[in-house]
Amino acid sequence: MLAGQGLEILAERYQDEVVGQVRSSSQVPDGDGWTELPDLISFVECHVLEAATRALYGPHLVGLNPTIAADFWNFNRRVKSMFMGVPKWMNPLAVRARNKMTDNIKRWQRYNAANCNIDDIPEEVEWEPFYGSKYTRVRQQLLTKRGIMNESARAAENLAFVWATNANSVPAACWFLLETLHDPSLYKRVQESLQGARITDTDKSLAFDMTKLTNDTLLQSIFAEILRLRVAALVVREPTVDHFSLPGGWYIKQHETISMSTRTELMDPNVWNAGNAASPHPLDKFWAERFIVYPDDPRSGPLKEPKRRLKPAPSKDGKSTNEGSFSLDGCTWHWVPFGGGRQLCPGRHFAKREILLTSAIFLSTFEIELMVDKLPGPDKGIYGFGTMPPKGKVPCRIRRRRE
Ligand code: HEM
Repeated sequence: MLAGQGLEILAERYQDEVVGQVRSSSQVPDGDGWTELPDLISFVECHVLEAATRALYGPHLVGLNPTIAADFWNFNRRVKSMFMGVPKWMNPLAVRARNKMTDNIKRWQRYNAANCNIDDIPEEVEWEPFYGSKYTRVRQQLLTKRGIMNESARAAENLAFVWATNANSVPAACWFLLETLHDPSLYKRVQESLQGARITDTDKSLAFDMTKLTNDTLLQSIFAEILRLRVAALVVREPTVDHFSLPGGWYIKQHETISMSTRTELMDPNVWNAGNAASPHPLDKFWAERFIVYPDDPRSGPLKEPKRRLKPAPSKDGKSTNEGSFSLDGCTWHWVPFGGGRQLCPGRHFAKREILLTSAIFLSTFEIELMVDKLPGPDKGIYGFGTMPPKGKVPCRIRRRRE
């Protein structure tokens, strides 16, 4: 349900929700005047969380809990201490933040139980206001079938899913915005790509063609580079056989926990193209073009040692072109921000749409000027949990674009 038709319906709804959210934002008034925001990141975070929650869970989870965006990001900041197993009595703020979120979710569960019989909703319905997406609805039915009847257990599972939907994609969208806004020439090229993906013959105030947006060469390369540079997820596995062997003479006992950091692969100097002496692009620095292959440039593309080169595609008049194309060829076991194998992130297609749409909508609705000379680094305190968000606040000036 996070692929195929269900995915496209969900992405369209997400798009409409984010557009509605930013258009009606009271933080940025109409008119030519600039408004100073103390932090662009929290501005994006709060708007996107509400929009994503409405798209996936329907309008009532936000409607019944007007502070849900602030509650969620407060909870997210404290996830790590709970994951580390710090006892409750030593960690009261984290426990309170978690309980605030599960209380919000229980309110929604009770409201739905009182107002809608989930089993009366026809199976083919992809979205309705009580449970939102079919994905959310079917999960509620499965939880009950699998004996997870307890209200608190269901609220915990729903919170885990709200976390999976937002905690990685939203910081990634923030990085996309920051890197683009920070570099005037990149900004110009991104705006051209967005213009090319915009739907003009529509009644909607702002809409993007999802296929064009998600297939654009530059936008995809920025997306892949942001995840390569900013994701540090710990992928956890347990061998099902004894004496599981790994290269280097390591053996792992059955049922022993293995924890692998995606960062090892995503930053491996033996794998990735880091430019050359004349034009270096170190792996710890953002390079918008890292994932673009130019047919007549053997040094282009993501890999240090390209596995294969695309032949220049002939243009319509028969001449060959050197147009770049996005490529993850040969990167399967190296570009692993979404993990891998059977447990590979099921939300990865939605995440791509979420990140590109969020960036596209914010860049098309607002003019934004960062009020910092240097971009912040990643918050390594979040290492292991997915996308590391920017560390610290990013003040900016913002105003609405004229139609
Ligand atoms: C940039 C965004 C995202 C990143 C970097 C990310 C990363 C990951 C990683 C590393 C895993 C563990 C994979 C493994 O163990 O091999 C995972 C699992 C998961 N992700 Fe994502 N994710 C993102 C967005 C999303 C979104 C948008 C959703 C939901 C719509 C989602 C839902 C899930 C779920 C449900 C799992 C658990 C899968 C399982 O255990 O079978 N993720 N994700």
